[in-house]
Amino acid sequence: MFIHETHLPQRLGVQHYTSPEHLDREVETMFLPGWHCVGTLLDLPRDGDYLTVTLFGRPVIVWRSGGDVHAFLNVCTHRFSLLRDEPCGHLDGHLKCQYHGWEYDDEGNTCRIPDARSFRPMEKGRLGLTKYRCETAGQLVFVTFNDDAPPLAEWLGEELFEMCRRWFSTAHRKTVNIDIDHDCNWKVVIENVLEGYHIECVHPNSFRTYPDPERCAHEFHEHWDRYTDDYSKAGLYNRQEKFVSRLAGVEPDYVWHHLLRYPNVVFGKMGLFTWVQMVWPVTPHTSRAMWRIVHYPGQPGRLRSWLVHRMLKGWGRKFMTQVVGEDTAIYPKIHRGLAAPVRPNGGLISIREERIFPFQDYVLKDTGSEPAEPQIDKIP
Ligand code: FES
Ligand SMILES: [Fe+2]
Repeated sequence: MFIHETHLPQRLGVQHYTSPEHLDREVETMFLPGWHCVGTLLDLPRDGDYLTVTLFGRPVIVWRSGGDVHAFLNVCTHRFSLLRDEPCGHLDGHLKCQYHGWEYDDEGNTCRIPDARSFRPMEKGRLGLTKYRCETAGQLVFVTFNDDAPPLAEWLGEELFEMCRRWFSTAHRKTVNIDIDHDCNWKVVIENVLEGYHIECVHPNSFRTYPDPERCAHEFHEHWDRYTDDYSKAGLYNRQEKFVSRLAGVEPDYVWHHLLRYPNVVFGKMGLFTWVQMVWPVTPHTSRAMWRIVHYPGQPGRLRSWLVHRMLKGWGRKFMTQVVGEDTAIYPKIHRGLAAPVRPNGGLISIREERIFPFQDYVLKDTGSEPAEPQIDKIP
């Protein structure tokens, strides 16, 4: 059942989706202080592997080296070239700049400078890379730009941190990675995944209809929320789930889980699939999302697990890509309406969509903004 008994007002106004000043405040107060999942250890399977990502205009390189994962500003201290620019790759030995070949160790210290004589005098070890804090939760790799941020386990909270360890364990395998640009404000994406009300219009073939409220539960905490849908009585899903779970050697979990750690870390679980979805603003009108979807095929090393892996990977890729594509197609259309300079009377959040309300409240509080003039009172 849902928590509220009546519909709620839309609290964000046009400026919250369009203003560059508001976006600057969001970045400053909501994004830079926190942690950001930038990938998984499945993206960095070998020592020497790296990935690059740009967050809030800052190029970042994440490098697995010496059995640990390290993050740096992806800018060389010589003449500020990007160290590497491929989305991912492998380095034998040191982190080497692609321009003149300066090399850095995994602490970010310079360790080889070609023709070093021509830079004399230069104090040894003075020019190091800018290093960022990097931690893992299960196989998820997080980075923060904030030296004063609490440890990741504290920032996520015990329950979510433990959940990451279970949902992204070393026995989980990669289903599919999706990295996608959206033509909409980042909050359009988050608000969309917080509600299943759009299912009948946007995903008629993928999900058919939304669940009965009796099956659903919402839970709100200070920094995160959770939605669960207990589908143990929905016949078709039930049988499929039972079959695959037994093959993987686990008890079936007939509950769909969906969580948001404010402002932008989304977690989901559907049967043996789990995922993290990150959404980052690029401009007020554009955003970028990163999905890392994994599945649990059973304990490694068994033929049966390999078969389950092949089956889940094939089906999961197709299904998740289809669902993400359906949502992506509607985003620019939602954004253009939300960004229109005039609005009609209205702005209603149904109780089925009630997760949007605390999310909007979080945005307003963190950025110190005023809510939109309530249009809802004008509804007769
Ligand atoms: S800019 Fe990197 S080595 Fe010159
Ligand atoms: Fe959707």
